[in-house]
Amino acid sequence: MKHAASEAGPLRDPRDRLIIALDTPSLDEAREIAGRLHGAVRWFKVGPQLFTASGPAAVTALRGSARVFLDLKFHDIPATVAGAVAAATRLGVDLLNVHALGGRPMLTAARDAAERAASAGSRPPMVIAVTLLTSGDSSAMRDAGISGTPEGVALRLAKLAQAAGLQGVVASPLDAAAIRSACGPGFLIVCPGIRPAGAGQDDQRRVLAPREAIAAGADMLVVGRPVTRAPDPRRAAEEVLREIALAE
Ligand code: C5P
Repeated sequence: MKHAASEAGPLRDPRDRLIIALDTPSLDEAREIAGRLHGAVRWFKVGPQLFTASGPAAVTALRGSARVFLDLKFHDIPATVAGAVAAATRLGVDLLNVHALGGRPMLTAARDAAERAASAGSRPPMVIAVTLLTSGDSSAMRDAGISGTPEGVALRLAKLAQAAGLQGVVASPLDAAAIRSACGPGFLIVCPGIRPAGAGQDDQRRVLAPREAIAAGADMLVVGRPVTRAPDPRRAAEEVLREIALAE
């Protein structure tokens, strides 16, 4: 397996390929887990739960010692999304996402806003699009009136994100191979829905183990509960890192 490439350069070290999702009810709990993982992981994800509870302080608290993926899946009119992306850029996040279902003008507005808001000389955050939630399956799509298979819809949305100038997507590991072959090597594929052997599925549906996800073409893996709720989070993270290294 060759090393993944991205705007951030080749991802040679497994620690550049693992993002720990800190879905905690408070910043104190997020800090506690981040402290236990200090040095072992390089990326944390701040999502709707932690951001709603603690706001931008969650990003600033983590930014000192790690890179931050702000996972708020913006989906609104282009001007509102552009404003939110500009604010996130000024906060100093390294990666952020919008929802591909927001459509091409919204996607392009997000990318442009990140570029405009980056301070002189500093690199704007990578802007990627969520395709489908990894907790969703065909029946969730039918309920929403979306026709086609999850694989087909995810691929279509990934191509849309690329055409709109975004740097990558968040996608199920089950869709990674098809997206990689359609979108090429420089397109960042970030996969949640990762379950190491022996871990429960929780509410995720379309999942793969870390090693399989990397082999399928994922550049970066998002892992939450299998690490944060493990009796020893550091050991659980190191186990995922070992699996990533083995897949290369
Ligand atoms: O705990 P778990 O490993 O299931 O966490 C996965 C994380 O990835 C959650 O924070 C979830 O919000 C996020 N996510 C996802 N599916 C997407 C996009 C983000 O599961 N399509």
